[in-house]
Amino acid sequence: MSAGLFEAARAAMQHAHAPYSKFPVGAAILTDTGKVFSGCNIENASYPEGWCAETSAIAHMVMGGETRIAEVAVVAEKMPLITPCGGCRQRLKEFGAAETLIHLCDESGVVETVTLGVLLPKGFALG
Ligand code: THU
Repeated sequence: MSAGLFEAARAAMQHAHAPYSKFPVGAAILTDTGKVFSGCNIENASYPEGWCAETSAIAHMVMGGETRIAEVAVVAEKMPLITPCGGCRQRLKEFGAAETLIHLCDESGVVETVTLGVLLPKGFALG
């Protein structure tokens, strides 16, 4: 993985709005065309209305006109190795593939790389 993808995730984490959990998260997506989009978690006083860093990154990617995810980096300030939540695995599946690489990071870089297929076997698909 390029260091740039990790750096984009870590930089995005600085924008996290996480006053309730105090658990900042950053995510960055590398598209199949080589572009990088990032996002942070954005919480809300009405707790269930907040959303994850991966979701923010996906929104930026779609608004940037891209729809195919090649790689993802995820980092959390307070966790040595963060894995995307179940809902975000399904959202990543929408734009990724079983071979899509998910880089699980700590604050200094990639700790482990897994595929989306390993994280979400038998994920829901229409048709
Ligand atoms: N969170 C993410 O942003 N991504 C994940 O993969 C797991 C959890 C956020 C949601 C919430 O703002 C905080 O982490 C604590 O759950």
